[in-house]
Amino acid sequence: MSKYRIGLFGFGCVGQGLYETLEKNIQLPADIVKICVKDPDKERPLAADAFVYDPKEILNDDTINLVVELIDDADKAFDIVQEALKRGKPVVSANKKMVAENLDRLIELQQIHRTPVLYEGAVCGSIPVIKTLEDYYSLEQIREIKGIFNGSTNYILTKVIEENKSYDEALEAAQANGFAETDPTLDVEGYDPKYKLSIVLQHAFGIHVHPDQIFNQGIQNITRADIAFARERGLKIKLLAKATRYEDRISAFVAPHFVSRESPLYHVENEYNAVLVNGDFANEQLLVGKGAGKLPTGLAVLSDVASITQDYQYILNREASDLSHSSTTEEVYVSFKSDETLDFSMFHVISEKYVGQQSGYVIGEIDIPALKTLLKDSSANVIFTSGARAETEIHKLTYSYEIG
Ligand code: HSE
Repeated sequence: MSKYRIGLFGFGCVGQGLYETLEKNIQLPADIVKICVKDPDKERPLAADAFVYDPKEILNDDTINLVVELIDDADKAFDIVQEALKRGKPVVSANKKMVAENLDRLIELQQIHRTPVLYEGAVCGSIPVIKTLEDYYSLEQIREIKGIFNGSTNYILTKVIEENKSYDEALEAAQANGFAETDPTLDVEGYDPKYKLSIVLQHAFGIHVHPDQIFNQGIQNITRADIAFARERGLKIKLLAKATRYEDRISAFVAPHFVSRESPLYHVENEYNAVLVNGDFANEQLLVGKGAGKLPTGLAVLSDVASITQDYQYILNREASDLSHSSTTEEVYVSFKSDETLDFSMFHVISEKYVGQQSGYVIGEIDIPALKTLLKDSSANVIFTSGARAETEIHKLTYSYEIG
């Protein structure tokens, strides 16, 4: 008999990915013995007797000594995880919303019950971000961590901008490939990468910032004019999650950025994710891999299962820092319809402004809370300029043209 008897919650894309990757790793001392799902009538690739429908069948089963939680609903997932930990069952989860919203409590519960929770599959699919931060980077002084944390939006941007596909077609393909969330607005509006960033903040800097406190703008308002603007300057638009340390403060946000060819992120396409870590000792390192999909994410979950069988747990050993999360002033490009009135007085500095017959833009410096106010109830779009390099690229061009 295997040492680890797994009770699995959820059998969607990632659950099936775990099942398939585990089947090909028979040497791993772990078997899935029960799978709990919600809907008895849904067609599934396994026979009906493989499934149970009441969570208690797993939670109350004393022979099950590892719970893998892969359901969609963050609140229900948290209930399951709490119950499992109370019963001394280690947990593996890939639910980024659940982890990000409850990280303080999850850390507390692990200490109370001396039972670990691992969640590598919650952050950037197959890239081992959390373990790398926990194990390798625990002695590094991280200055900045940023990257492409969402596979669906990177896939959509690639298809729409590089391959001239329509937005709807690209989104449909992202869904069909199992990259997108059940509610894809979580991807396109930048919530999914924000949950991941919140988790990363804990492991990179030792602070938990609730996702509600992190600014997020997605790709939903990007226009053909924005794409034309980027193309003419040899820039790409990438949805980036970014956390930067400024002495005792951390700034963190998710937003589209102009990215120049010199950045390694420029070359990361389709469902690939990338994480760029910048620290005092190692300087810059890039992790790249598939950020979404059945088998890549299934492997991340399987790797956590293997870690549990080796008694691994997160040490969370960053000193409980006195870092605080605060918002910064950023240089941004804001595009808008010419007939829309925006309050430009919120900008500290405007370095460039253009208004054509249909649309216009400004480039300037603005505080993030003011930017949030500016964008509220507006169809305006924001793209962060990515700092000095992109700024040079943008400002060296003097031009005037009407965007179609
Ligand atoms: N919807 C997510 C993405 C899945 O597109 O990145 C992986 O977390």
